[in-house]
Amino acid sequence: MGGGANDSKRYAYRSGEWFGREGKYGFIPRSWMKSQGFGPELFDGRPVIGICNTWSELTNCNRHLRELAEHVKRGVLMAGGFPLEFPVTSLGEPLMRPTTMMFRNLVSMDVEESIRANPIDGVVLLAACDKTTPALLMGAASCDIPAILVSGGPMLNGRFRGRELGSGTDVFRLDEEYRTGRMSKADLDDAEAAMSRSAGSCMTMGTASTMASLGEAMGIALPMNGSVPAADSRRAVLAERSGQRIVELVRGGTTISQILTRPAFENAVKVNGAIGGSTNAVVHLLALAGRLGVDFSLEDWDELGRDVPCLVDLKPSGRFLMEEFFDAGGLPVVMKRIADRLHLDASTVGGVSIGEAIADAHCWNDEVIRPLDRPLTAEGGIMVLRGSLAPNGAIIKPSAATPRLMTHRGKAVVFENSDDLRARIDDPALEVDADSVLVLKNAGPIGYPGMPEVGTMALPKKLLEQGVTDMVRVSDARMSGTAYGTVVLHVAPESAIGGPLALVRDGDVIVLDTATRRLDLEVDADELDRRRAAFVPPSPPYERGYGRLFLDHVQQADKGVDFDFLVGKSGTPPSKVSF
Ligand code: FES
Repeated sequence: MGGGANDSKRYAYRSGEWFGREGKYGFIPRSWMKSQGFGPELFDGRPVIGICNTWSELTNCNRHLRELAEHVKRGVLMAGGFPLEFPVTSLGEPLMRPTTMMFRNLVSMDVEESIRANPIDGVVLLAACDKTTPALLMGAASCDIPAILVSGGPMLNGRFRGRELGSGTDVFRLDEEYRTGRMSKADLDDAEAAMSRSAGSCMTMGTASTMASLGEAMGIALPMNGSVPAADSRRAVLAERSGQRIVELVRGGTTISQILTRPAFENAVKVNGAIGGSTNAVVHLLALAGRLGVDFSLEDWDELGRDVPCLVDLKPSGRFLMEEFFDAGGLPVVMKRIADRLHLDASTVGGVSIGEAIADAHCWNDEVIRPLDRPLTAEGGIMVLRGSLAPNGAIIKPSAATPRLMTHRGKAVVFENSDDLRARIDDPALEVDADSVLVLKNAGPIGYPGMPEVGTMALPKKLLEQGVTDMVRVSDARMSGTAYGTVVLHVAPESAIGGPLALVRDGDVIVLDTATRRLDLEVDADELDRRRAAFVPPSPPYERGYGRLFLDHVQQADKGVDFDFLVGKSGTPPSKVSF
């Protein structure tokens, strides 16, 4: 450290290294902060709470987080802390290209370094849109300081001519109706205006709602964090209470790694099954566990979630939306219904165990949150497939799939990349029928790059017109948490690095057998060797900058798509004073 003594009698926390020093080393941080109108009593050794904000007008789902931050601040002040809001890069699904997933790790670095470089004793993570939640949790995890997640909450339900419209999920349906002439352009325009009618994240059980709910299930957010609508005043109350609790967590020295333990991850996998959660949770939780050093693998998703029934009847798997889920009692009801599968003694940021947090949950609508004897689907979890087409794994979400297609044998119709898919999928001459298996290459972490949500692959127009509603699709891409279908995703190793997916050709037979968790390519070994010898990887799209860093260091889907050099945590060791 540089000079200047720390008055350790008054400064029990990390921020004392800045604000507790004598002489110029304390004068400078205090004096310059006082330019914002902060009185001297705020520098008396109280916990300094960072409010990490992903507000941005480029991220519509997070556009209300400045307002929510004010409620967090009030809670922090009520509890005797000193709140300081700071921005990090935001990630908005509808706008960012090539995909927000390419920037999740970048934001996690932004969060990690912002916390470590500043006088922050604990942090409240304000997130909403899909990737903002894992990015903030991963960054805070690598610092291992006290942290609470406060989600922005879902939008109000979309409503259109007496019909409820669910974010994302109904876009796919409306698009199919428009493409097949069953909906006019004017009607589609009206539906566009009716779908997203308030602040908040997608109001289906998409990735944003899934990650907010899993934060609650893992105890890193307060109860009901997943479901209180963004526009509901109780969201502000939750933010205020989180502000109070983070101060207590700092005082008690409870860091994020004490909450996000292996039992917390196990609870999350089971809850994800019970809510019919997004497939994207797989890569995000794998990456988060990697930061924390928690022993948690792709196989855990299948083993722990294998027989968990999906109880929540929400789109994309079911009928309802997040407003109904909230009204029905939200996640505590779901957790209470599967309580015998959970680690009830796991800790939470609320200061009670998970078991205590859900003890008083009551269900107000058994149609929205089904009882155990009447689940939406018997198998709600994520299935992990392996086989000659996916030696390192692939996943499928059974609750979003068509049961009769879960065991299927069909001939491949191959698209070399998403441009090729877009160009040919509606070609009347495309040789495809309802039994074909649509295969998309070069959509993985390196191939696209960034592993975008293109794995759903719109069905060929000529088959839609014949009434086909689902087909088996296989790719190394992700899919939107709001999407549905018999879609095999996250194939590893990906095609761009020469995984078996790269070797598939039109007409090859692909066998999907979810009962045995197999995904196989029925081509003899000699032929595959010939194809492998002729494989030429696509040329990298980035020669410099962040894109280059991404290509050089990103890991495959089965490792969570984190950078190899970001795995693990470094804490917040004292840094040098620079003046
Ligand atoms: Fe932001 Fe769906 S687009 S949560």
